[in-house]
Amino acid sequence: MRKPVIAGNWKMHKLVAESVATALALRPLVANANHCEVIIAPVFTALKTVADRLEGSNIRIAAQDCAPEAKQGAHTGEVSAEMLRDAGATHVIIGHSERRQFYGETDAFVLRKTQAALQSGLTAIVCVGEMLEQREAGMAESVVRAQLEGGMRELTPSDLDRIIIAYEPVWAIGTGRTATPEQAQEMHAFVRRVLSERFSTAASDALRILYGGSVKPDNAAGLMKQADIDGALVGGASLEAESFANIINYNQ
Ligand code: PGA
Repeated sequence: MRKPVIAGNWKMHKLVAESVATALALRPLVANANHCEVIIAPVFTALKTVADRLEGSNIRIAAQDCAPEAKQGAHTGEVSAEMLRDAGATHVIIGHSERRQFYGETDAFVLRKTQAALQSGLTAIVCVGEMLEQREAGMAESVVRAQLEGGMRELTPSDLDRIIIAYEPVWAIGTGRTATPEQAQEMHAFVRRVLSERFSTAASDALRILYGGSVKPDNAAGLMKQADIDGALVGGASLEAESFANIINYNQ
């Protein structure tokens, strides 16, 4: 059985005090959510404070990015996976489409970051997903296959234990246009097939694949019913404790 994961990606939102307030409001609302793992990803500057304030809770902390270099060094502006772990993170989001689109991240870069995360003991939430033109040109599967093959090229089957994939069609992110549960299921089954060919059936059967892109309280349950959807990566609807809690408690 794959335990679902519901992760909130706060992107570049919230000052430290606002991050803490949202985290503390979320805490009691999800205290009984034993059916899934709950993760929030605050901005770097709020990460340690939020992690400290959530100690002893069932909410884990993710960073939104990490350096591709595992070791400390002369890399101005970068934060290493080890530093994130030291600050209280257990997970890190890697290769989000906003980083690929606006900061030029390539699959090779995603691979290096994933390796750095694994080396430092973090679980990597690796994002893949096609753009609208690619879907309309019938290329959704080939684009996602290339991202998976390029981004996971040097990894081993045992590395998959600490990887979570987030399938996020770019046309559904922040647009209010969610993939239908059937469209998402089809792509999730495809991702699992690609990884079973690349690694092993056992490893890909155990892998959690999250859906991301305009997940809201009213569409979460329908998505979560799909056989290969093992959770959600939530942007906008995770910024407010109550709406994020309603997604986490989709089973009630
Ligand atoms: P959204 O963002 O839920 O606001 O569409 C999802 C994401 O970018 O991870």
